[in-house]
Amino acid sequence: MSYARIIGTGSALPDRVLTNADLERMVDTNDEWIRTRTGIERRHIVSENETTADLAETAARRALDAAGVRPEELDLIIVGTTTPDYIFPNLGTLVQDRIGANGCAAVSCEAACAGFLYALGIAEKFIRVGESERVLVIGAETLSRFTDYTDRSTCVLFGDGAGAVVLAPDEKHGILRTQLYADGKYRDLLYFPSGVSRGFNDLKSGKDFVKMQGNEVFRVAVREFIRAAKNIFAATGMSPDELDWFVPHQANLRIIEAVAKRVGIPMDKVVVTIQEHGNTSAASVPLALDVAVRDGRIKPGQTLLFEAFGGGFTWGSALLRY
Ligand code: ACO
Repeated sequence: MSYARIIGTGSALPDRVLTNADLERMVDTNDEWIRTRTGIERRHIVSENETTADLAETAARRALDAAGVRPEELDLIIVGTTTPDYIFPNLGTLVQDRIGANGCAAVSCEAACAGFLYALGIAEKFIRVGESERVLVIGAETLSRFTDYTDRSTCVLFGDGAGAVVLAPDEKHGILRTQLYADGKYRDLLYFPSGVSRGFNDLKSGKDFVKMQGNEVFRVAVREFIRAAKNIFAATGMSPDELDWFVPHQANLRIIEAVAKRVGIPMDKVVVTIQEHGNTSAASVPLALDVAVRDGRIKPGQTLLFEAFGGGFTWGSALLRY
């Protein structure tokens, strides 16, 4: 069986930037609180007419370019997102048509901030069993669309963006292992309060916003990130000393630092982009990956650990040789 190897990465960010200073003018907050409690300095926000599909398409095109793969070579597209353009057609099919990969399988995968990790875990199996040869995996979000910009406890956290990778079979190295987890008993700590079947609350007046008990999410996220990292090192027989880069979900710098310390990963081996992007949910890991690949930090052959955690709760990790 072959490994699934990442052969190209890409990302996209909206042009519009929302700084901490901008937020100071919108809610009772300040730059000092946001930076020290979260690590965030600015985030990118979509314009009125921009959608998740626009960001996903750009990230996809850049990843395909980097991989040297033509759209028509793709046999599967999976997009991790909780903020799709439509309930259906799914975001995968929108991207597929826009890039001209018509005919291949295309689907989206909804696991909140862990959406990209879940999509990667699924995609990797298709390659391992020989069913797919070229797979596009995307994480793309416009969380600003369901953020309450009068609620200082959530509006400072989120940003919009997309990241993408192209996977191909490789005999020698690639994704060594993915491990996915969920625990639905935590559903009330982080959720969006409505949907098609339950009904939307009050879309027109904009009262459907993300709900979060931040400090409880923080506590469980740190604990499960640490456990997931230890599990994946044990499962692969590797140790944190062998790691070149940790590419974590960018939700809070304090979560990242606590996890790195407890797992035994020095911070100079951690890719941190939260100051620029905020929490972009499913886009966070592939965005950070693309930044570090393009600025030359991450090089072929290096060992990487991805981790993400989000509503549900859903979380997961991937250990790979890039
Ligand atoms: N500016 C100033 N003060 C604020 C702000 C703000 N933006 N937000 C909250 N505060 C105040 C609170 O009102 C509180 O004041 P009080 O002590 O007078 O009551 C104080 O700051 C402390 O509030 P906490 O909520 O306890 O602050 P905490 O240190 O926990 O930080 C935060 C809050 C940043 C939300 C943190 O808990 C966190 O990052 N949690 C995890 C979020 C996360 O990981 N989400 C995961 C995924 S998101 C997804 O899946 C879509």
